[in-house]
Amino acid sequence: MIKAKPEVEGLTPYVAPLEGRRPLLRLDFNESTVGPSPRVVDAIRALPPDAYAAYPEYAGLNEAYAASVGVPAENVEAVNGVDAAIRAIFDAYGDRGSTFLTTVPTFGYYEPCAQQQGMVIDEVPYEDDLSYPLAGVAKKLEAAPRLVFVCNPNNPTGTMLEPGALVALARSAPQTLVVVDELYVAFTGQSVLPAALELPNLVVLHSLSKAAGIAALRLGFAIGHRTIVERLRRVTGPYDINMFAVVAGKAVLADPDHMRRYVAQVSEARAWTIGELRRLGVRHAAGGGNYMLVWPPGDVEGVVRKLRGHGILVRSMAGKPLIDGSFRLTIGTPEQMQRFMTAFTAVALLQSGSLR
Ligand SMILES: Cc1ncc(COP(=O)(O)O)c(C=O)c1O
Repeated sequence: MIKAKPEVEGLTPYVAPLEGRRPLLRLDFNESTVGPSPRVVDAIRALPPDAYAAYPEYAGLNEAYAASVGVPAENVEAVNGVDAAIRAIFDAYGDRGSTFLTTVPTFGYYEPCAQQQGMVIDEVPYEDDLSYPLAGVAKKLEAAPRLVFVCNPNNPTGTMLEPGALVALARSAPQTLVVVDELYVAFTGQSVLPAALELPNLVVLHSLSKAAGIAALRLGFAIGHRTIVERLRRVTGPYDINMFAVVAGKAVLADPDHMRRYVAQVSEARAWTIGELRRLGVRHAAGGGNYMLVWPPGDVEGVVRKLRGHGILVRSMAGKPLIDGSFRLTIGTPEQMQRFMTAFTAVALLQSGSLR
C-alpha cells in the first residue's frame, strides 16, 4: 500500500449518514423540506444538450449573488458548496504547525480540514448555557492564531453572536483570518455583511443548500475582502462548479419570494414546536437557524431509531460535549412539525412514560 501524507493517514474523516433518506421526512440535515423554486426545475429542463458538452460558464453568477446581499461583485466568489470553500480556506491559509482556533461543539467538517494541513487545533467549549465563549476566544486571539472559524448561528447549538460583536472580534485580531460561517443567514436575517467587507482579515460563507433548497447541486459563496477572495480563487479548480448549479443558482436568485415564503413557514413552525415542547416539559434549545436541540426523556439513540420507524429522521447528538443526550431537529413546515410532534409524543411516552 502506498501511504498518503502522514496527516491523511492519521485523519478521522467527516462522514455524514446520507443514504436512503429521500422517501423519509428529513429533519436531520437542515435542508429545505419543500425543495427549490419551480423556476430551478424549469431552468435545468431548458438547458440544451450543448450545455452539457461544453465546460460551464460562470458569467453573471457572482454578480447575481452580490446584488442579492448588497455587496460589490469583486467581493464574491462562487464555490462548489460551502464545504469546498472551507477546504479552500485551509488550503490557502492553513500553514502546517500553525493554530486553528475553534469552538466545540460545532460543524464537523472544520477540524478534518485543519488536520489535513497539519495544523494545531485549539478548541474552546461553548458555555454551559450554550452561549458563545467570547471571553475565552478573545483571550486566545491574543496569541494570533492563523485561523478562527465562527459558525453563526452555530450548528448544532443554534448559538448566535451579534454581528457587531463579531466584527469587533475580527478587528481585535488583525493577524488572524476570521471565517464567519453564516450558512443559516436566511433564517436569522443577521449578517456581518456588508460592514465586514472593509476588514482585510474576515471572510463570510453563504450557501444555497438550506433555505434555497438545492443542497444536491452544491453551490455556495465566499464573500469578503477582495484579497482573500482572490486567494481562494487560486486554490480552487477552474470548473469546480457544474452547469446545473450555475443555472439553478441564478433561478433561485431570480425568485427570492419562494425562499421568503419558506422562511416564514419555518418561523411559524418553530414557534409552534417550541410551544409544544414547553407544554410537554421537554428540554430543548432553540437559537438561530432552522433547527433546534431536543433532549428526549430516556435514551436518545432509542428515540431516534423509533422516529425513523415512523418515517422521520433526526440527528442524534449522543456523546457530543455539552449536548450529549439530545438530537438535532430540523424545523420544516407547520404540517411537517405536527407530524413530527405526533410521532415524538408517542415514541417518547412509550419509551419512558415520563412526559408531563
Ligand atoms: C454550519 C455549516 N457550514 C457548512 C455546511 C456545508 O454547506 P454546503 O452544503 O454549502 O457545503 C453546513 C452543512 O450542513 C453547515 O451546517
